[in-house]
Amino acid sequence: MNYKKILKEIETEIQSELKKGKVADYIPALAEVEPNQFAMTITLADGKQYSVGKSKEYFSIQSISKVLAFSLAIDTYSTSLYKRVGVEPSGSPFNSLVQLEYENGIPRNPFINAGAIVVMDALMSHFGGDYAALEKVMNFTREISDNPIIQFDPIVAKSEMEHASRNLALSQLMKSFGNFENDVHEVVRTYFKQCAISMSTEDLSRAMIYLAFNGKDPISNKEFLTEAQAKRINALMLTCGHYDASGEFAFNVGLPAKSGVGGGIVAVVPNIMSIAVWSPRLNAYGNSHVGTLALQLFTTKTGLSIF
Ligand code: DON
Repeated sequence: MNYKKILKEIETEIQSELKKGKVADYIPALAEVEPNQFAMTITLADGKQYSVGKSKEYFSIQSISKVLAFSLAIDTYSTSLYKRVGVEPSGSPFNSLVQLEYENGIPRNPFINAGAIVVMDALMSHFGGDYAALEKVMNFTREISDNPIIQFDPIVAKSEMEHASRNLALSQLMKSFGNFENDVHEVVRTYFKQCAISMSTEDLSRAMIYLAFNGKDPISNKEFLTEAQAKRINALMLTCGHYDASGEFAFNVGLPAKSGVGGGIVAVVPNIMSIAVWSPRLNAYGNSHVGTLALQLFTTKTGLSIF
């Protein structure tokens, strides 16, 4: 397959869509990003990468980080974690409070905000505090992306903490149901730092290859998760990775994938490759408009959907 040519075609075809959608402005620091950018990278099992656009540009990975933290958490807690966070699609926006009240403070899945905050709470309990938990997530991210200089952006994290009402409300509600172990503000602050990790599509695509190959990175030969754990994360990405647009994403793209409000999306083609796209303008569900379109074009042109 001529991936270079296919990526070039995609880059040309998305041009007329680059001005559609809106950057996330509920986090003021994200609203300052130049909106009409695009990058896409694929990584194959032998480590070969193909990219188009600004594939070295760092952006805020936001909710994509939920996959990284959850990978660490299931490795740490195994199935006991599922007492605190479910595995069902929510059918609701990523920051919705409604379902959480009906369901006694147990978030539907680890990729909506409430679920990811519970995962950070669990990591803090296990690793002994905010600093240690964040370091674990950062070091895991550096290791899987083979890039030791990856950091979180403190300006983005601070900006989010200044507009944290909804995530604090979700956390307080979970605490009222007994599904919270640490200080609410400390957990939310650490969760924001995790969301503020900056990476490029080259980094992200490289990082996700362990999920395309049953938990084992085929480039470094390091085993990060068991086959069963990787299978479960891919299932969650497929069913919950795009919130209330997960069905539509599966319908149009057909790959396990996770989006972030920074405009990034990662996707895996099992046993073949990992993909990262980035374009900051979002659709009504908070997922990258052009990123989704680029992945749809990719599976249409290559036939590489899982269906
Ligand atoms: O907590 C938040 O709202 C953000 N840090 C993450 C949300 C997000 O990326 C949703 N994804 N599309």
